[in-house]
Amino acid sequence: STGFMICLPLAYLLGSSMGAYLVCAMFGLPSPSESGSRNPGATNVYRLGGLLPAALTLLWDAGKGALAVGIGRLAGLEAEYLGLVAIAAVLGHILPIYHKFQGGKGVATMLGTGLALAFSTSLILAIVWWTLLLWKRISSLASLAAAGLAPWVAYFFNPEFTLFFVVLSLVLVIRHRDNIIALAKGKEQSL
Ligand code: G3P
Repeated sequence: STGFMICLPLAYLLGSSMGAYLVCAMFGLPSPSESGSRNPGATNVYRLGGLLPAALTLLWDAGKGALAVGIGRLAGLEAEYLGLVAIAAVLGHILPIYHKFQGGKGVATMLGTGLALAFSTSLILAIVWWTLLLWKRISSLASLAAAGLAPWVAYFFNPEFTLFFVVLSLVLVIRHRDNIIALAKGKEQSL
């Protein structure tokens, strides 16, 4: 449909707007792609600037994902097309056209699209993520655990989106390969 043909590139472009770069510029922090873990995401902004900049980054990156899905809903798209719009937003964050395709890892954006798409599943995953983060203080570990659980939680709470969570979880795990290697060596950066 025409709605889908407009929503898909729009979601990608929304996804390409990176909270980390905007917030770091606003707060005069070093570039997130050149310091800390060199990842432009909320976790690394926390390392560089603390809670407020990190919360704003998380809010921006989750918000753009939710907005992309919301626009798709307004356009009357059906579930499977909404899922594709959500994936386009996450791919925008991972491969942003405005930043030479040097993007983030997609956790916050996946959370935002997930909350707008499959609320119960995403709320449970967010609680798992937050609990593990506070407990272990390693963001990548929390993200990987949530990604591993996502398809199973979706299967029970939002079964029509199981495939969506399988696809995005795989993308997330692949994007965390450096984190997985560091975790295995016991060298992963904590908060
Ligand atoms: O949000 C991404 C997180 O899972 C890992 O981030 O900066 O520790 O590689 P980072």
